[in-house]
Amino acid sequence: MDSLIVEGPARLSGEIQIDGSKNATLPIMAACLLSDEKSVIRGVPSLTDVFTMIEIMRHLGVKIKLEDDVLTVVPDGYKGNEAPYNYVSTMRASICVLGPLLAKTGYAKVSLPGGCVIGPRPIDLHTKGIKALGADVKVDHGYLIARAKGLKGASMHLCGVYGSSVLATANIMMAATLAKGRTVIESAACEPEVVDLAEFLIKMGARIRGHGSHTLEIEGVKRLYGAEHHVIPDRIEAGTYMIAASITRGDVLIKGCEPRHISALIDKLSEIGVSIKSNPDASIRVRAPRSLKAVDITTLPYPGFPTDLQAQITALMSTAQGTSVISEKIYPERFMHLGELNRMGAQAALEGDSAIIKGVKSLSGAQVMASDLRASAALVIGGLVARGETQVSRIYHLDRGYSNMEAKLSKLGAKIRRIKGKQ
Ligand code: EPZ
Repeated sequence: MDSLIVEGPARLSGEIQIDGSKNATLPIMAACLLSDEKSVIRGVPSLTDVFTMIEIMRHLGVKIKLEDDVLTVVPDGYKGNEAPYNYVSTMRASICVLGPLLAKTGYAKVSLPGGCVIGPRPIDLHTKGIKALGADVKVDHGYLIARAKGLKGASMHLCGVYGSSVLATANIMMAATLAKGRTVIESAACEPEVVDLAEFLIKMGARIRGHGSHTLEIEGVKRLYGAEHHVIPDRIEAGTYMIAASITRGDVLIKGCEPRHISALIDKLSEIGVSIKSNPDASIRVRAPRSLKAVDITTLPYPGFPTDLQAQITALMSTAQGTSVISEKIYPERFMHLGELNRMGAQAALEGDSAIIKGVKSLSGAQVMASDLRASAALVIGGLVARGETQVSRIYHLDRGYSNMEAKLSKLGAKIRRIKGKQ
């Protein structure tokens, strides 16, 4: 397993280009299963999660190839309808093939995702939705098996204990495109990635209204066609580098991003004293002063502060003046990074679903271990300003969601390198 070695402190400056969104790409790839025709998706990031999804599609019998950032998908005559454990266990987003397979073939067998390091990851909302559309659902030997002789449109309320669900909304929206009649999803997720998926489905011939709001209406159609699409920029990648620029008190131009998608982060960074300027050419300039103020943050569904930036902003707040309280309302157990940041000299304590972070004057390099994708990014961010060497091990998590992070950071002036095959 590879490690990253970061030598701090660094001050980031320069320009960085943001890739296409991972979390938009994955369900859009699954949506291709709804048609027999060729689709072309552009702006696809080179990430291990995307490679895993390509393997799943191949396993289903789909012809698919990625050249640079262009993905060509030819589902014609695919026969498979099973997403086995070895894929789902490495990438929970594999669950998003459930809706398209069921709608197109009448049968889907998808390994149950199980728990994960960011806390329990139930799929009750996915099953509630497909049952409402008329599917029979059972669990057998660790697999969710869904059958339907033609789905029927239905009205449903798709809200869980922690609010709406991004992938459940995606799954049910995809399934409903080929159902007979009208489906209404109340409490639908309105994340930009769900909107991007809806836009792609509409290009395929789906009839969808209300995407971007909490009420989605889908009028089922008989068939869908191939389509071409360019995925939206990755708001979490953009946000991660904005936070990296801020923690190093740097001056960085983030190019190819959509400022509207990260307004919650822009708001909080401005509140703590970072200067943010959004430009009409889809770029954001981030300039941070030496001293940053503490702030309280609560993660919430979009347009609230994203849970996928919680770990990174926690690292940043450990270098601000005063005490910050960061509450996690999506995954209340998503705090594995606190202990590792404390190894670097941070002063973070967990109280219920909140991290209490007392700002410190400086962090110091340490050996730390990445536990999940966004926690890994937080440790690298901490390492950028920690004095001395930080070794972040198990960075295969990082490769799931950030392409070439060390190259991108090096270009901005960071001293960072990868060591192959080290724990
Ligand atoms: C998506 O996961 C993202 N993944 C996650 O990003 C992100 O953290 C999450 O949305 C929240 O924004 C992809 O898009 C591939 P949810 P998803 O269903 O859809 C609960 C990353 O780092 N819930 O919106 O699986 C759930 O436990 C990843 O890129 C139910 O109760 O998340 C959570 O508390 C990690 N029942 C809340 O809903 C269900 O059936 C929101 O989760 C499903 C979810």
